[in-house]
Amino acid sequence: MAGTNKEKADIGLIGLAVMGQNLILNMNDHNFTVACFNRTVSKVDHFLNNEAKGTKIIGAHSMEELVQLLKKPRRVMLLVQAGQAVDDFIQKLTSLLEKGDIIIDGGNSLYKDSIRRAEELESKGFLYIGTGVSGGEDGARYGPSLMPGGSEKAWEHVKPIFQTIAAKADGQPCCDWVGPSGSGHFVKMVHNGIEYGDMQLICEIYHIMRDVLKMSNDEIAGTFEEWNKGTLDSFLIQITAEILRYKENGKHVLDLIRDSAGQKGTGKWTGIAALEYGVPVTLIGESVFARCLSSLLDERQRASSQLKGPRVQDFDGDRKEFIEYLGQALYASKIISYAQGFMLMREAAKQHSWKLNYGSIALMWRGGCIIRSVFLGNIKAAYDKNESLENLLLDNFFMDAINKCQHGWRKVIATASVYGVPIPCLSTALAFYDGYRSKRLPANLVQAQRDYFGAHTYELLEKPGDWVHTNWTGHGGNVTASTYQH
Ligand SMILES: *[C@@H]1O[C@H](CO)[C@@H](O)[C@H](O)[C@H]1NC(C)=O
Ligand SMILES: *[C@@H]1O[C@H](CO)[C@@H](O)[C@H](O)[C@H]1NC(C)=O
Ligand SMILES: *[C@@H]1O[C@H](CO)[C@@H](O)[C@H](O)[C@H]1NC(C)=O
Ligand SMILES: *[C@@H]1O[C@H](CO)[C@@H](O)[C@H](O)[C@H]1NC(C)=O
Ligand SMILES: *[C@@H]1O[C@H](CO)[C@@H](O)[C@H](O)[C@H]1NC(C)=O
Repeated sequence: MAGTNKEKADIGLIGLAVMGQNLILNMNDHNFTVACFNRTVSKVDHFLNNEAKGTKIIGAHSMEELVQLLKKPRRVMLLVQAGQAVDDFIQKLTSLLEKGDIIIDGGNSLYKDSIRRAEELESKGFLYIGTGVSGGEDGARYGPSLMPGGSEKAWEHVKPIFQTIAAKADGQPCCDWVGPSGSGHFVKMVHNGIEYGDMQLICEIYHIMRDVLKMSNDEIAGTFEEWNKGTLDSFLIQITAEILRYKENGKHVLDLIRDSAGQKGTGKWTGIAALEYGVPVTLIGESVFARCLSSLLDERQRASSQLKGPRVQDFDGDRKEFIEYLGQALYASKIISYAQGFMLMREAAKQHSWKLNYGSIALMWRGGCIIRSVFLGNIKAAYDKNESLENLLLDNFFMDAINKCQHGWRKVIATASVYGVPIPCLSTALAFYDGYRSKRLPANLVQAQRDYFGAHTYELLEKPGDWVHTNWTGHGGNVTASTYQH
């Protein structure tokens, strides 16, 4: 494809912020000819005269020019801020493009926007792809994870570029067709949610190591480095070790950082989706709330002098053993988090009639992106072995893994609670596990309560589907609440 027609570009890219620039340079490295445009046109010349100097990258000084530079069907990729900017560019493009041309949104768009845009564009004869792009600046430059979904007919025209520039894991590209419109950005959203969860889990382990075991940053780093050689091998564990070791002027920079976490919204979106679809994605939810709680920094500092914690002695258990337990708690909780993330995708797929390939999603996340890990190879294997696996926890590999970890996991949660160290994600993971494996939960009582005060009726164990109402108080009527919503 590349170089066959010198004056025509394989793809046009709009938006020269760092992700856009790096993706362009990545495509150029792989001999694709890229034409680029930025609304502030001086950025185009600056890019061509600096980062893109000596490359085949072509600059366009107007949208009209950009569109004329492109081979047909034209491929235009947007890397602009999610929201109104995407709609504005799409509107402008539709007046310049022809039927069959392809618009690709590579920003962090909300999947519902992608569904709407795909419908609008397809009704006008254009093709649309909303794609997740993960891996940060480095990923974009040297191999991101790409999660495209939308107009299926567009895929054959985009596939050679995307699969070539994507990260590779076990020799395969971390990019494949996800499914119909919205699914690419949905999968990216879940990826980001899982990233929140993974980060918070690591933070909770660090917190216990720091405040219960009183380990130094270097000792903690050493443990993470060790873990990074085994089942926990992952980008986030690796960078955490590097962060823990990092010093400037003889001081660990980590210790100088305000403990108030920021967020840009994709974790929150995952939580909202979980609530909307009614899927218990508790770990990601807790990880978002943990950031919210951390950001109440001033309030926490005032409270810290008034609210008492437990009185405890220094840890005098077997440290080596307890550190092993910490690794097990982290691993087991991580399994729960991914199981919940896949549950959410499964439910969304059901409601939107998407046919998602979960093994292939695991492979897309296996390399290039922030949550890349060896563990995702195990998830892929689980779905390769059984495409219709109902839940990751039911796969033999993960069932055994959790079983081996659960003693240590429970010890860690018990110990942290005794010491008053907050572990929202580790403990919600265990609560989920114990709930999911329960044959009988106390929801019989919830149903009775609802029927008592609201005549909501309930089903008998023996007769599911038959809704009955009990005259609990002796002054209840015959009318039940089944026909209206409280
Ligand atoms: C233009 O480039 C700047 C950075 O150089 C970037 O911040 C901005 O988002 C780009 N915008 C568009 C719409 O191209
Ligand atoms: C790109 O083209 C150059 C020159 O034709 C060639 O040496 C190089 O191997 C190509 N690179 C890739 C990634 O195809
Ligand atoms: C695949 O998973 C489904 C649902 O969890 C299960 O019913 C089925 O027995 C599994 N098949 C195999 C071959 O393990
Ligand atoms: C509920 O119970 C009371 C007392 O036993 C009885 O008087 C009343 O009729 C009952 N209500 C209905 C709707 O059966
Ligand atoms: C409630 O329903 C029962 C059984 O259908 C009936 O015998 C009774 O008379 C009803 N009570 C009232 C207050 O309508």
